[in-house]
Amino acid sequence: MAEKTILVTGGAGFIGSHVVRLFVNKYPNYKIVNLDKLTYAGNLQNLDDIETLANYEFIKGDIVDDEFVFDLFDKYKFDGVIHLAAESHVDRSISNPSEFIKTNIVGTVNLLNAARTFWKDEIDNKLFYHISTDEVYGSLGEEGFFVEETSYSPRSPYSASKASSDHLVRAYYHTFNLPVVITNCSNNYGPNQFPEKLIPLAINNIREKKSIPIYGKGENIRDWLFVEDHANAIDLVFHKGKKGETYNIGGNNEWTNIDLIRVLCKIMNEKLGREEGESEQLITFVKDRAGHDLRYAIDSSKIQNELGWNPSLQFEEGLNKTVDWYLKNSLWMKNITSGNYQKYYEEQYYKR
Ligand code: NAD
Ligand code: TYD
Repeated sequence: MAEKTILVTGGAGFIGSHVVRLFVNKYPNYKIVNLDKLTYAGNLQNLDDIETLANYEFIKGDIVDDEFVFDLFDKYKFDGVIHLAAESHVDRSISNPSEFIKTNIVGTVNLLNAARTFWKDEIDNKLFYHISTDEVYGSLGEEGFFVEETSYSPRSPYSASKASSDHLVRAYYHTFNLPVVITNCSNNYGPNQFPEKLIPLAINNIREKKSIPIYGKGENIRDWLFVEDHANAIDLVFHKGKKGETYNIGGNNEWTNIDLIRVLCKIMNEKLGREEGESEQLITFVKDRAGHDLRYAIDSSKIQNELGWNPSLQFEEGLNKTVDWYLKNSLWMKNITSGNYQKYYEEQYYKR
């Protein structure tokens, strides 16, 4: 019998797959149930190295379907939930906000309701861990950092839907005593990130000698964290975090988009045996994103001081690792960009 049964939602996505891998390998006594709808962003290839392990199970399903979520809680008697499932791309939230409201808000409420219902008689060893983003705090000027007390000021449909879900998670803590914890993390990068996000998109386009679209003047600033460092922080907060608390997680690693892309071009020129400055010629300034947040920067001193977390990788090292992974896994990229893997899932899971 497993010591704990943990539901990870969105485990086939970018960050979720690193969390699932870490927990399945590190905690053989836990059973890890990965619930994922396999949207365009979910990809079981991200987990093919652990899919046959005895303490791992994948379930395809939608957190927006409340009956399904309740049945799942009834069947598995989860001890903990690590909730990552979300619509996660700002640009998609601008073209189609409704999906974000459904998954990020309604989906989260369905999970909260199920946890509240099935944990009502015993909450001591339970935990609902909600994974959120620094984008809920809005946009910074040139100075300052987001701390846990910073007022929420979301400015995109994505960040507004995540902010809403954070508020609901806290409301269930205060109103229903549900044991919760929340972390708000900065921009992640690393292997398995869907190539709609800046870094994998740029890596793919550089490799294929396609133009690299930079929104506006490329002066927007993001704080980048290697995804495995985020997964380690999630492990720490899941086991040592204080119920009802929020922890900010960041890389203390701020880059303007244009500087970041220039570094990436330089790394890739070297790895691909291209002339100095060759890939830089692909940089193309395009129309700015609507409501484009200028700067995100995280003060992570709370998680560092209280739980002893620190990012382990320097950016240059993390970027090198990431580029190496994408170059080595060109089939992964090809499957995604050709839509082959979506077709495969439709055959596997929809036509039964
Ligand atoms: P992702 O888009 O790569 O993965 C999301 C996963 O959720 C996919 O596997 C998708 O199939 C699944 N999913 C979507 N809708 C679903 C539904 N209705 N039911 C079940 N599964 C569903 O996202 P990511 O970048 O891995 O982000 C994971 C979480 O971390 C999100 O909650 C996001 O807000 C948060 N976050 C992301 C970043 C980042 O830089 N990527 C930073 C901070 C926080
Ligand atoms: P993104 O990876 O979409 O993450 P987020 O918007 O959640 O921070 O974008 C990171 C930054 O890069 C953001 O300032 C928007 C910018 N960007 C581009 O300039 N070009 C692109 O093609 C993309 C996808 C993003």
